[in-house]
Amino acid sequence: MNEQIIILDFGSQYTQVIARRVRECSVYSTILRYDTPAAEIARLKPSGIILSGGPSSVYAPDAPLPDKNIFALGVPVLGICFGVQLLAQFNGGKVEKGLKREYGKGTLTVKDPTCALFAKLPKSLQVWNSHGDKLTKIPNGFKAVAVTENSEYAAIENRAKKFFGLQFHPEVAHSPRGKEIIANFVHGVCGCGKNWTMRNYVDQAVEEIRAQVGQEKVILGLSGGVDSSVAAALLHKAIGDQLTCIFVNNGLLRANEAEVVQEVFGRNFKLKLQYENSAKQFLSKLKGVTDPERKRKIIGKEFVEVFQAATKRAGAAKFLAQGTLYPDIIESVPIAGNPAALIKSHHNVGGLPKNMKFALVEPLKNLFKDEVRQLGLELGLPKEIVYRQPFPGPGLAVRILGEVTPSRCEILRNADAIVVEEMKASGLYYKIWQSFAVLLPIRSVGVMGDERTYDYTIAIRAVESQDGMTADWVKLPYDLLEKLASRIINEVKGVNRCVLDITSKPPGTIEWE
Ligand code: XMP
Repeated sequence: MNEQIIILDFGSQYTQVIARRVRECSVYSTILRYDTPAAEIARLKPSGIILSGGPSSVYAPDAPLPDKNIFALGVPVLGICFGVQLLAQFNGGKVEKGLKREYGKGTLTVKDPTCALFAKLPKSLQVWNSHGDKLTKIPNGFKAVAVTENSEYAAIENRAKKFFGLQFHPEVAHSPRGKEIIANFVHGVCGCGKNWTMRNYVDQAVEEIRAQVGQEKVILGLSGGVDSSVAAALLHKAIGDQLTCIFVNNGLLRANEAEVVQEVFGRNFKLKLQYENSAKQFLSKLKGVTDPERKRKIIGKEFVEVFQAATKRAGAAKFLAQGTLYPDIIESVPIAGNPAALIKSHHNVGGLPKNMKFALVEPLKNLFKDEVRQLGLELGLPKEIVYRQPFPGPGLAVRILGEVTPSRCEILRNADAIVVEEMKASGLYYKIWQSFAVLLPIRSVGVMGDERTYDYTIAIRAVESQDGMTADWVKLPYDLLEKLASRIINEVKGVNRCVLDITSKPPGTIEWE
């Protein structure tokens, strides 16, 4: 079993960030609910426990509290923000409402450089604070090891017990050396090695898949996106021809998408790929439909039908594989005021019908997205697939406003190919969240040579985002915009005007629909 750090989640919006920082130190981390019994935690044999921050006050009547026995497991504990207040509260310290809310950048001054958390770090560090309550008395056995402008107990330590508390957030990017503090905790204090790497994980995952699947057959819906592609490559390594991947061409794909999937998975990986060309079927069902929600519903329903028929043709399979990721399965903590609990994707597809009785294989369910990409590279997938931008399930249909017709699909596909090509050439494609073309349903007048034209408009959309929930429009260089517009208008028949979308999310959405 891997060494691991347990993170108890008290509802901080940064809990997953803590988990990722630990993993970036090549140490496995698991997020558990704040009230997980100490006995259960002990069974997992953690090398250390981190108490996350959270929006509550330790003295509030409904404050989320941990099992007090976690402090008696003999395991190092690091409390962050709300976590340090818990550490103090449970060990005889005192927490009070701060007179001044400390929010934003601060300067940490290390008072005791022998504290293991600050090994090899300078005496003065920029850190990020976000807390109202503050420690006013530290528990017996503890010592203040660093201060900020507003807090004489910005970092505390009980060296004998290996308990540490940080009033600031070392996990966020605004604490530039914070990752080293976390590394000092997991390696220096908890004694973890660097065993969690995707190279090591491949063997472990292959074994687990084989143990789960045995000699049974597995079906995977391959979309060509990052998650299903990496899941396919991993499963193929584990069980070879027991895996059948079904790829549905819904007629709403980007240029060359079907060819690339067939090339990479069929010819290179030589996995069993069942290609379902259902473009005509989807497009005929979309005829005359302009309402965006109806379009989505039709595409969803059609997909289920095509997929269901395809699985029958693939032969009896016991398992269905899905590219579920770790953030999809972490239970969010239902604490009032916890923004992380409110953020839910509105795109959760209804899934497959209940009568499709499969057992699930979810080989990526312990991984964060960046780990999935690393794993993909480890398995030999090309960068074009591993780092590709997200593409919505309903495909070009959400980027064609108004009716989706074969000729409109063709126009958008050609314009989009130019956007992708030029974004890649400029080096920006892999640096931003998404960049694509949108086909507007209006036509306007233009001139081309001596001729009057009456053609469509393409909108260019490029956004920066961490997770698609909020987004900023990207200030693409003028010369790139000029090239995009001139190529699209000159090369794509049916387009005579190009505009740039400069809307952020909120209030806009990323897709136009
Ligand atoms: P919006 O348009 O809601 O999009 O700001 C946020 C992110 O979600 C993607 N998106 C989808 N992804 N199925 C998906 O898998 C969908 O139906 C879907 N609709 C939007 C969108 O591309 C953006 O990254």
